[in-house]
Amino acid sequence: MAVTSDGVPVLKDRLVRGKEWLLDAIDTLLGRREWSTPPRHLMFIGGGDFAKTGESYLNFFIDVCGLTSDSHVLDVGCGVGRMAIPLTRYLSPMGQYQGFDVVKPGIEWCRKTITSRFPNFQFEWVDIYNKTYNSAGRLVPADFRFPYEDQQFDFVFLTSVFTHMLPRELEHYLLEIKRVLKPDAPCLVTYFLLNEESRRAISGGESQLEFKYDAGGCLSISQEAPESAVAYDEEAILSLYRRMTLALDGPIRYGSWCGRRDARRFQDVIVARKK
Ligand SMILES: C[S@@+](CC[C@H](N)C(=O)[O-])C[C@H]1O[C@@H](n2cnc3c(N)ncnc32)[C@H](O)[C@@H]1O
Repeated sequence: MAVTSDGVPVLKDRLVRGKEWLLDAIDTLLGRREWSTPPRHLMFIGGGDFAKTGESYLNFFIDVCGLTSDSHVLDVGCGVGRMAIPLTRYLSPMGQYQGFDVVKPGIEWCRKTITSRFPNFQFEWVDIYNKTYNSAGRLVPADFRFPYEDQQFDFVFLTSVFTHMLPRELEHYLLEIKRVLKPDAPCLVTYFLLNEESRRAISGGESQLEFKYDAGGCLSISQEAPESAVAYDEEAILSLYRRMTLALDGPIRYGSWCGRRDARRFQDVIVARKK
């Protein structure tokens, strides 16, 4: 599976996949790839610059969310370690990183590459169904209990994950996030939020993503594969946070996805604290 620069998955054809395997093999033979760069054939998590995106979120985690080097953090939908890799340079041996995802080869790569160097970084594969990322998954996301204790984490984050999940599972995941967070601890989640400005941009053809298919409580860019990218009504998300007593910490940081010119990131970001 590949993704466009918008983080939207698209199927790669056999020729492209064959070429990627070949180039990856050549890189390995010539020792050309840094340990922290996943091979091309595992890049299913979005385009853009892998290292720069991770770095930019790490700064955000520290400056806005109050991450410290001893924090215990959870990365839900951790992909191929885009956020974990920069964290390896920041978290001390007292700190702890846990990540889980539904794509097995991504988790295997993270374990082999990251856990082997940083034993306080742990990755878990969970066989949860997602039409785009794990269509043979056996577990139902809306019933899934995160494999962690209550109040285990100082910080939980989801980058480009709720942009691929449907309403029932999103709501359940928020409850799980709240369960595993310590009191007053923050969570950071990225979204595509529908409000007056983004709706106007979509209908005016300025948005990079055209959310036009009803996916039952959210809008998708695809009728056949709704999870390829979904957008939520901003008010509905804010009301869900109020119901769950997740209190917004600062303003929503809007992204550039719908054509905003002055945005620092592609997706919209909400930081909230468990109350
Ligand atoms: C665009 S990728 C982003 C990956 C990573 N968060 C990052 O920023 O690099 C979306 C990720 O969400 C994961 N995902 C989809 N549904 C999930 C679910 N129900 N639980 C956990 N992860 C899920 C996918 O497998 C994929 O790795």
